Amino acid sequence: MHYRGAEIERQIDLLYDVGRGEQIAGSALIFSAERQEATRNILPTLTAAMNSLPGGAVQRPHRHNSVAVSLVIKGERCFSVIDGKRKDWAPWATTITPPVSVHSHHNGGNERAMFLIIQDGGIYYHARAMGFEFVEQPA
Ligand SMILES: [Fe+2]
Repeated sequence: MHYRGAEIERQIDLLYDVGRGEQIAGSALIFSAERQEATRNILPTLTAAMNSLPGGAVQRPHRHNSVAVSLVIKGERCFSVIDGKRKDWAPWATTITPPVSVHSHHNGGNERAMFLIIQDGGIYYHARAMGFEFVEQPA
């Protein structure tokens, strides 16, 4: 499956048109294919999504049972806080968020940040054991 950049941007724009509230973790476009559509995964055990974060925004601290590998596509003055440690983003850098670690993403720039997320979420969704929850974290 080939997900074209312009279509990804268009779909994410639609997410922002719908609006976002405090109770969602972010505005992410989840990649799937016809065979996996029912599970909202790209493969039976893998979740892939393009996550986004508007300029000046913070993605609330949260945790989940799946590990996440994040690839920075674009984002100026962005960083993540993972288990209390700040990780500054760099172009095309990857960050690994270990399972159940408390993490948040921060965009100190003016442009929308984009980061590709790969998670072993399929197995947790299938078992209904993702364990997603928002977490209060000291600034
Ligand atoms: Fe997360």
